[in-house]
Amino acid sequence: MTAGVATKAAREAAELRDRLDYHLHRYHVLDDPEITDAEYDELFDRLVEIEAAHPDLVVPDSPTQRVGAEPSERFAEVRHEVPMLSLDKCNSIVELNAWEERCRRLLDEGDELRYYCEPKIDGVAVSLLYRDGALVRGATRGNGETGEDITANVRTIREIPLRLRGADVPASVEVRGEVYMPIDGFHAFNERARETGERPIINPRNGAAGSLRQLDPAMTAKRPLSMFCYSVGDTPDWTPPRHSDVLEAFRSWGLRINPRARLAGDLDGCAQYIEALEAERDDLGYAIDGAVVKVDDFDLRDKLGQVTRKPRWAIAYKYAAEEASTVLLDVDFQVGRTGAITPVAKLEPVFVGGVTVSNATLHNMDEVARLDLHLGDTVMIHRAGDVIPRVSKAVTSKRPVGARRPELPKECPVCGSPVVKPEGEVVARCSGGLRCGAQQRERLRHFASRLALDIEGLGDKLVDQLVTQGLVQSPLDLYRLTREQLAGLERMGEKSADNLLAALQASKETTFARFIYALGIREVGEATAAALAGRYRTLAHLLTADVASLQHVEDVGPIVAAKIVDFFSAADNRALAVELHDGIGIDWPTPDVLDDAAPPLVGQTWVLTGTLTAMTRNEAKARLNALGAKVAGSVSKNTSCVVAGPGAGSKLAKAEELGIEVIDEQAFVDKLGGFGPSEEGVEMAQEHEI
Ligand code: IVH
Repeated sequence: MTAGVATKAAREAAELRDRLDYHLHRYHVLDDPEITDAEYDELFDRLVEIEAAHPDLVVPDSPTQRVGAEPSERFAEVRHEVPMLSLDKCNSIVELNAWEERCRRLLDEGDELRYYCEPKIDGVAVSLLYRDGALVRGATRGNGETGEDITANVRTIREIPLRLRGADVPASVEVRGEVYMPIDGFHAFNERARETGERPIINPRNGAAGSLRQLDPAMTAKRPLSMFCYSVGDTPDWTPPRHSDVLEAFRSWGLRINPRARLAGDLDGCAQYIEALEAERDDLGYAIDGAVVKVDDFDLRDKLGQVTRKPRWAIAYKYAAEEASTVLLDVDFQVGRTGAITPVAKLEPVFVGGVTVSNATLHNMDEVARLDLHLGDTVMIHRAGDVIPRVSKAVTSKRPVGARRPELPKECPVCGSPVVKPEGEVVARCSGGLRCGAQQRERLRHFASRLALDIEGLGDKLVDQLVTQGLVQSPLDLYRLTREQLAGLERMGEKSADNLLAALQASKETTFARFIYALGIREVGEATAAALAGRYRTLAHLLTADVASLQHVEDVGPIVAAKIVDFFSAADNRALAVELHDGIGIDWPTPDVLDDAAPPLVGQTWVLTGTLTAMTRNEAKARLNALGAKVAGSVSKNTSCVVAGPGAGSKLAKAEELGIEVIDEQAFVDKLGGFGPSEEGVEMAQEHEI
């Protein structure tokens, strides 16, 4: 190696160290990261690479020489008797195979490798010390050797038992696991933060870390946190032979174990597990960044040992990052059905959470202000456990000079009417009402959509054409269209015209719930529409409902009740509803018996596991919900029935153990068929997936 190469490497290493230190500080101390975890890892890995090639460049204070964060001075220090390790990682099954090969070389001939697989939870590693069954200390991992005492904070997490149950709890046991923020809780927190002007959380992991390090435990208590336990630390008097025994014991003591953790067998089993888990990633309800593969047998673990604070007996298989940074190119303003003007971020396309994202909703201008977005900003995009990507922060340090803030237009970008934002409201609206082409279009689209009147063939493009040509403004006009008018449209032959007319005719036979939903009353989604239909049964009754009476309907509070009354007190809305029903003849069977009958599966809890082929998991869920059943994520003695597709694992085993009815997909489909067609639920799920 030439001196030149060495100096270049030295320079790069020094620069990387500086950058890593800076980002580590931003992340752990300021709770305000500027780069994504994946970007951090990339820098870190590069430094590791250089240091491996030039060992003389390793300095004691290199970020590679410590694991995780230095403990902060705000909390008392906790020394970990058994260091808290980190994991080596891989990104492909080929690399996983190579890892097994390395393991095999260190083992003896007859040693059989059996693996345990778990989701890699994207949260914060925590150690819980139980003495005589009582929780006496909670600590963060810190740098792996020394962490922070966060006992008061962990005690506020309801999923963490303050006392372990069972006669076989060791006198002293240190339980380790991951504290995380469920996706629902993360969104709910940010929703509230958005309203109160508090600083939102950028991702669930940050949320968990920040919450655990609150100085006031009352603040931690307000955060939605939970925990999965996955390993044992310093526990002198307990020597279980296998990891699976540890988790079984944990479960019996009342500790929370990940329901998807399971013995996967050989590497093929692991590969299947990894694939199946990735497919479920968005439905888990918590963020994961991969799967962890662990050797189950502790004797073998001992033989394998560890290198640089990473055990050789475990490896993390990483999935696509759910966070990425990109550039905000522009902000567009879209006009919705009710005139709401929504800013939409136009992004330099970026791959995140397995998809390419180029647009992200910004909700409203308060959100834009709260994020302090400027055009040209480098922004972080986050997409976890849900399909909607969001902009989580702007990296102010990378802001181009002279960058401007996006501004709410004064006039509707579609019809030019003034944009209004009433005092105290966050949403700006176009004041054009149904004079606005965008609102007309959106209202018609909604009216024709699958959950509303389901007018086949009336897609977005056709609606656009009809509105642009001035043929249709209100849903009433749809039913007045003639064959000649339709056949004269671009890309529309006589056949398609006839089909559309037939579809319009067919749409007149509907349900009251669909009709109410189709009207597009603000805050009235399909569930509320169904509840309203069940209670009022006729349009005449619904039109005369007052705020007090409406509040007896499920999910209708004073705000929604007022929106409904407002809607029907506007003469044009009222006239529209009446004319559609009485004039056009849109009608529905008035249910007199059916309405009071409970759905057939009310009170039942079902579990879906393995792969379904005839429908997606969401569809199956929606079908069951529509029949009154709840769908749970794990099997318990309260489970009514388990639907097991190919690849079903621990849930199936559990159901069999508990003697719970298990049916395969075909039997499930047959069973659903027996309850009659219920397309509604299925469509509902699909609608939500978009
Ligand atoms: S095992 C040596 N199991 O990943 C064993 N870790 O990169 C280390 N993590 O600090 C822990 N889910 O915070 C293990 N099921 C799981 C995990 C998990 C998430 C985290 C943990 C650890 C980091 C290692």
